[in-house]
Formats: sequence, C-alpha cells, structure tokens
Amino acid sequence: MDQSKFENLAKEFMEDLKKVSSLDDLESLRVKYLGKKGILAGLFGEFAQISPEIKKDFGRKLNQLKNNIESKLSELHSEFFAGTEIGVSQFEKTLPGKKPQIGHLHPIITQAIREIVEIFKPLGFTQVRHPEVDWDYFAFESLNMPKTHPARDEWETFFVKAPENKEYGKLVVSPHTSSGQVREMLKNQLPIRMLNISRCGRRQIDVNHIPFFFQFEGLAIDKNLSIANLRGVLDYFAQKFFGPGRKTRLRPFHFRFTEPSFEVDVSCGLCQGAGCRFCKEGWVEIGGAGMVHPNVLKAGKVDPKIYNGFAFGWGVERTYMMKAGLKIDDMRYLGENNLKFLSQF
Ligand code: DAH
Repeated sequence: MDQSKFENLAKEFMEDLKKVSSLDDLESLRVKYLGKKGILAGLFGEFAQISPEIKKDFGRKLNQLKNNIESKLSELHSEFFAGTEIGVSQFEKTLPGKKPQIGHLHPIITQAIREIVEIFKPLGFTQVRHPEVDWDYFAFESLNMPKTHPARDEWETFFVKAPENKEYGKLVVSPHTSSGQVREMLKNQLPIRMLNISRCGRRQIDVNHIPFFFQFEGLAIDKNLSIANLRGVLDYFAQKFFGPGRKTRLRPFHFRFTEPSFEVDVSCGLCQGAGCRFCKEGWVEIGGAGMVHPNVLKAGKVDPKIYNGFAFGWGVERTYMMKAGLKIDDMRYLGENNLKFLSQF
C-alpha cells in the first residue's frame, strides 16, 4: 500500500471536519471514518492480508490515524456541548451533569497507616521504611535467630529466587517489620524513635491471616528505657486509636529478639473488657513487644552497656479490625480489591 495514503486520508479527514456544522454532521463523519463499514474498518481489513514486512509500520500508522480521528471528533463533540458558537443551539443548560465516580483512600494502605503515623508523631516516633524484600541476616540472624533455630518456622517465610549474598545469606520477602530494627541502628543516629511501616509476607492464609499484610514496628533506643515506657506508649496508642477507655495488657511470651518479651492484648471493644462471645475473657491479642535483646543491639553496633530499648510490632490489618464498631470478621476481605467491600470504609 502506498504509504502516503495515510497522510492523504488524514488531510481529507481534516477537510471534512471543517465542514461540520451540527451534531448530525459530526455523527455522519464519525460513521464515515469509524463506523462498522467505514474507511478505517476497510483499512483494518487490509491489514490482515498484507505481507509481514510492512505490517508493523502499517499497523502503527493506522492506529495513529485512528487515535487522531477519535480525539478530534471527541474534541469537537465537547465543543458542541460547551455552548461554543456552533453548538449553542444544542446546548441544554438545564440537563443535570454526570457525576464522576469518586473513590476514597484505602482503609489499610492509606487511612489506617496515616492515622497510626499521626498518633506516634507527638511521641517523637518518625516514620521510616525499610526494604520489603530483605536479606535473611536482617530478617532473622541479626535478630538473634540463628539459621537452624526452630522458631524461624513460625515466620513461614517466602524465599526469593536470587543468588545468596555471602555476608547476608538468602533473599526473603520480609516476614515482619522487625527486619528494620538493625538496619535503623546501623544508621548510627542515637537515640532512636522509629516507626517502620511496611508490607510483609508470610505463607499463611485464613480468617486471621493474609499472605501479604502490613505491620508497624516501633523501636526506641535510648539510655534507661524501661517496661514502664513501653507500657506508656502502648496505652497511649490504644486509647488514641481505639478510643478512650481501651486498655492494653502485657502477657509474658517468647521472642528471640526481645528479653523480656510480651504479647500485647487490648481490651475488647465489643464488650469493653467484660467478656463476650468474640473475646471470651475481655481481651484480644494484637501483637508482640519487648525490651530489645542485647545481641540485637550488638548487631546494630549499639553498646548494650550504655543503651537499651523497647520494641513492638503489630499488624496494621489486625489492629484496624479491632477498631470499635467495624465488625470485620475475616481479614481476607482487607487484602482483596473488592470495591463493594472497600467502599464501606
Ligand atoms: N516481629 C514479630 C512478629 O512478626 C512481632 C514482634 C514481637 C515485634 C516482639 C517486636 C517485638 O518488635 O518486640 O511476629
């Protein structure tokens, strides 16, 4: 096919376009070029039969021409409705406008995370983000969890197919935001008040777990910090996030990277701690916390004789689900992009 044919067609179209003086003309023009039996449909028919050498070039030019025609037609169409000179007679001022569909911020990825960040800000905790795909060293080993330690099974790790790093080991999808602890310490800027919020991954899925979820990790390193400081921060957070009157409780637990370690419960929002079918005894478990283990401080090049610290790591989805009045009974809803569900929040 003669290549200049596209240019000629484009010119011809522009000439035709100038002659349009009504919406009916515009429609006839659209049918002439873009209709089922129109000029472009013919060219698309030709396209199927031409030799492969010129197909690419032909296809590109044809698409360009089509896009150009479509955008010129739609420009003119909006001019008619904007009440410009030629369109003034067709412009109906009293027609209600079409409302565009309006979205809103995602309940977890934006709303909950922003709220958490704002709550911790006045306490001096600054939001940071550490890698979502990280070396085994930062995810486990530097956190006092040697390679063979059975506790590592609990993290149900996703391994990434990548060459091992001699120093840092395998590449993993970060199974928790605790991976940011030693990275933060290695920045060598003490004291630390870190709030690491990031996506994490674990091979688990049920009503209480989704394989990709968010955690927020608080880490404070300073001189003379105590469990009382940790409690103070957690209570403050619980009251701000869940509402006044909600309490936290620390239960002794075991994590390799904190000593002592706790699991943190928050008083149930449904029965205000009295005990109900959902919580049984008035408390709901929400995440881990503890005083940073000296070995973790050492891995972060922080001297445990001078400094100590506390840390906590909670799931954003789980925490959000405990907000009073939400009644989300399956975490998987929060990981799906189902607009019907999401638009409620
Ligand atoms: N990283 C732990 C997890 O994912 C949670 C955790 C426990 C974080 C104790 C902490 C902590 O900072 O001190 O299950």
